[in-house]
Amino acid sequence: MNNLIIVDNPLVRKDLSILRDKNSSPSIFREALGRISYSIAIEISKNFELEEYEVETPLEKTKGYKLKHQVVLIPVLRAGLSMVDSFLQMMPEAKVGHIGLQRDEKTLQPIDYYYKTPSGLKSSITILLDPMLATGGSAVASFNYLKKNGAGKCLLACLISAPEGIERMNKEHPDILIYTAAVDRKLNDNGYILPGLGDAGDRTFGTF
Ligand code: PRP
Ligand code: URA
Repeated sequence: MNNLIIVDNPLVRKDLSILRDKNSSPSIFREALGRISYSIAIEISKNFELEEYEVETPLEKTKGYKLKHQVVLIPVLRAGLSMVDSFLQMMPEAKVGHIGLQRDEKTLQPIDYYYKTPSGLKSSITILLDPMLATGGSAVASFNYLKKNGAGKCLLACLISAPEGIERMNKEHPDILIYTAAVDRKLNDNGYILPGLGDAGDRTFGTF
């Protein structure tokens, strides 16, 4: 699939194993999630265009670079919140919007409860942050909203994806590049990713 980029390195694999381990506490889980987010942020930054400007070192003038486009980070509540700090460390000028979605446990459809996004989406690079791409319902709903509100170039950053969610994104938002640290086997009957890591929101915030 040409809209999928797998972010894979030994540190990511080691941290994914920590995330998958049911015995990892919320603080260990959040730290590992944050570290993988750095690798994804760096990979995503290869999309960014630069503008040249003149910078003066203590010795002479030379060429400098700055990002050409505003970056907007959109974590999907709740689990996406734990990716924000790592992305902001790498992209400190980024603006941050929020989308609140909760999957209905029976229908697996996303129920929306909060939207707050900055202006200027059209000329920005908008990165949706959500560790889990399962059925794809939450990602598709988020991009439907963002595009309706004028978003230009959009990217998806996640940690674990199911083939079902990737296929749905391919069908409904084929223009959007998906960055993921792993593609797992499949969804179970309750819409959870196998082998996955369980409920990312609950494991991040200890709500079990
Ligand atoms: C999780 C996850 C995604 C969504 C993925 O959120 O963080 O947003 O499920 O599933 P999908 O691809 O089938 O839509 P959840 O709805 O559990 O909310 P939470 O983060 O508040 O726990
Ligand atoms: N949401 C999660 O948090 N985990 C899954 O496995 C699927 C959806």
